[in-house]
Amino acid sequence: MSSASSTSPIDRVLQLATHLTTNHNNNMQNGSHHADAFADVPLAPPDAIFQLTAAYKADKFDKKVNLGVGAYRDNEGKPWVLPVVKKAKALIQEQENIDHEYLAITGLADFTKASPKLIFGPDSDAIKENRVSAVQTISGTGANHLAALFLYKYYGPWKGKSDAEKVIYLSNPTWANHKAIFANIGCKTIDYPYYDAKTISLDFENFKKTLNEIPESSVVLLHACAHNPTGVDPTQDQWKEIAGIFEKRALFAFFDCAYQGFASGDLDNDAWAVRHFVDRKIPLLVCQSYAKNAGLYGERIGCLNVVSKDADEAKRVLSQLSVLQRSEISNPPSFGARIVSMLLNDEQMFQEWIRDVKTMAGRIIEMREALYDQLVNKLHTPGDWKHITTQIGMFSFTGLNPEQCKKMVENAHIYMTGNGRISMAGLNTNNVQYVAECIDKAVRGTL
Ligand code: LMR
Repeated sequence: MSSASSTSPIDRVLQLATHLTTNHNNNMQNGSHHADAFADVPLAPPDAIFQLTAAYKADKFDKKVNLGVGAYRDNEGKPWVLPVVKKAKALIQEQENIDHEYLAITGLADFTKASPKLIFGPDSDAIKENRVSAVQTISGTGANHLAALFLYKYYGPWKGKSDAEKVIYLSNPTWANHKAIFANIGCKTIDYPYYDAKTISLDFENFKKTLNEIPESSVVLLHACAHNPTGVDPTQDQWKEIAGIFEKRALFAFFDCAYQGFASGDLDNDAWAVRHFVDRKIPLLVCQSYAKNAGLYGERIGCLNVVSKDADEAKRVLSQLSVLQRSEISNPPSFGARIVSMLLNDEQMFQEWIRDVKTMAGRIIEMREALYDQLVNKLHTPGDWKHITTQIGMFSFTGLNPEQCKKMVENAHIYMTGNGRISMAGLNTNNVQYVAECIDKAVRGTL
């Protein structure tokens, strides 16, 4: 295996950051800045996930592979514009009366009316009884942020509590950004057991034990489907048990749903847990993202749905969400909302979208099988690799340790996060053998 050079791509990104800071500090000493306004600002490390993308792009190695960021790629390793999205864009272009006015503060009405139906189901009682307050957000990140801000200010059981007592419980591990989003608002985050590294599966007993021990009415973040980063979801029976504990302990379910459709290829199936909780009248909210399932990463289109006990409460909740949104972004962006609104409201386009989602989920499932086949049947790599095919969604938690992951990046030019997560969407028929061979070498200590 070729070693790229004496410095790895990640080191080069870090060196660039250091270089920029040194120049900045020299400028300060030379007197080219007058004030000390930001003299004490420490240099933050680059974002772990997006740093990988930057390093991958800068890498000249011909067999480089990006398994870092959770973004869908086609079998040629290229970003995929969904055919139905292309069609929606063309239709928007043709609309002569389209203008560039502000949307409402809560977003495009056609979108916020349709988006809850996708997650709760068109026949949901919560929707029929007008108990859902839906606000268009800056993708899933914005929905998580607005949700946490709203809870911080208005969650009843947190009334009179200090910041340190406003706790959001997060699965260990979780999407790296969760902690940062909630810390920015002032909430405290505490991990709950979720993943058992020894069995590479759900640590269900300890998960339940913790839910039974945390204070009543605690806020617990749950990944609605396709858990990021592990790809390990509870089964429907396990979800029922989890819901039972939420009921018994009056816990609040903060659902993050960034991958509806990616787990099973079926939008309804992937909403099963959320709908089960709604049926059981467990207090909850759901953050939706259309980055992955509509391939609209840059358009930043998402939705926050808060479910209330009655229509009057929902009206008050919506009014306060609107106030918060106004001070943060005033009005959400229109383009992504117009596209998704077409996908959700036009029956023919909805069916085409379902087909596109299946294409993406199906290719990922094929790649799981191909990687498993290479590791187990072709290379006889030490270890049990069943988890590669049993985990679902965009990601797989390979079980590689940080040292092995480092070697994958530095010696094999295969970009992946240090926790062993790989984005299955980065695999294709052209690179799966190379990736498997490198995993094999990493496991055998020869990479
Ligand atoms: C990921 O987990 O890779 C994606 O959700 C991208 C991101 O924002 O981190």
